[in-house]
Amino acid sequence: MGEDHVFLRACRRESTEYTPVWLMRHAGRYMEEYRDIRRKVTFLGLCKSPDLAAEVTLLPVQKLGVDAAIIFGDILLPLEGMGIHLEFAEGRGPLIRNPIREGEDIERLRLIEPEEDVPFLLKAIEIVRRELEGRVPLIGFAGAPFTLASYLIEGGRSNDYSKTKGLMLGFPSWWHRLMEKLAEGTIRYLRAQVNRGAQALQLFDTWVGCLNPGDYEAHVLPYSRRVIQEVGEQVPLIHFSVGTSGFLHLIKKAGGDVIGIDWHMDLGRTWECLGYDVGIQGNLDPSVLLASRQVIEVHVQRVLESAGNCPGHIFNLGHGVLPETPVENVIFMVETVHRLSRR
Ligand code: CP3
Repeated sequence: MGEDHVFLRACRRESTEYTPVWLMRHAGRYMEEYRDIRRKVTFLGLCKSPDLAAEVTLLPVQKLGVDAAIIFGDILLPLEGMGIHLEFAEGRGPLIRNPIREGEDIERLRLIEPEEDVPFLLKAIEIVRRELEGRVPLIGFAGAPFTLASYLIEGGRSNDYSKTKGLMLGFPSWWHRLMEKLAEGTIRYLRAQVNRGAQALQLFDTWVGCLNPGDYEAHVLPYSRRVIQEVGEQVPLIHFSVGTSGFLHLIKKAGGDVIGIDWHMDLGRTWECLGYDVGIQGNLDPSVLLASRQVIEVHVQRVLESAGNCPGHIFNLGHGVLPETPVENVIFMVETVHRLSRR
């Protein structure tokens, strides 16, 4: 069921009647229905309530007409099962009060058991699959080992990731232990999602663009590759990162059926450089959705033209939807992608 869906066919680089589209963070604060739910429950409370998480996952499918759903959750959810205390301070993003500073902290990290540590997420996947009745496929996701390590070490977001790089370059054996544990945990986490019904996966390496190419290749690529090799056999996998235009060939080398790119590069030229043996996802600048319909249409057209009708393009933003985005503009964008790309 659903294997013939336009999104899954595009992941496999088969030709489609139109270009499939979904948006990163398409279930979120820019939607009134989401804000209403969030007035009653905290972000973590929402993630941990399977019925509410399923409801939020389905909102964009109903309201926007996107070609895929992504399960509502967060890349940091598995950290709690590892023994990390996770908070989402209102308006400030994630916060970890017991960040990792030395070898002992790394030894103490537990490997997650998805059935015990994230039962709510697995239950939500089950509910969503049932409710979707095959209308669109469901994407599962996880943070890539580097991006998870950066949160564990910095305790939150950082401007320069100096503590993360300090551990990576100064204490290679600790780094190796940490990345091994994160890779193993991520494999378990993603496999559990596929077993419960996720039909595609996205691996988010959001902050890895802070590295130089040599360090990415030596200290990160082997772990991301291991994750992708071990889970990417069963379902298509999208490998997403931000700010990696200088080493996107290494991101491709780490793996993925589809490479997700940000908006700093021309999609067509990037695809040509990467080669057409991978699909590509992206890459509208999220700020464009704050502009007029006319401007949105011009930008959508530009991305579609750049992709040049090659099979294997999945339309998306270059990063998540901004909270101040008018929902009508998102609906218009999805409709425009479908209209302009129909073959
Ligand atoms: O895409 C979707 O609609 C699915 C849900 C989803 C969320 N986070 C919901 C969320 C996904 C796929 C993520 C992934 C995620 N989480 C990433 C990688 C993607 C990216 O954006 O690069 C990262 C780095 C995180 C960590 C995280 N969680 C941050 C930095 C924040 C704060 C963001 C902000 O703008 O304040 C979160 C919280 C979060 N995750 C929200 C949502 C809808 C906002 C929570 C709220 O206040 O309601």
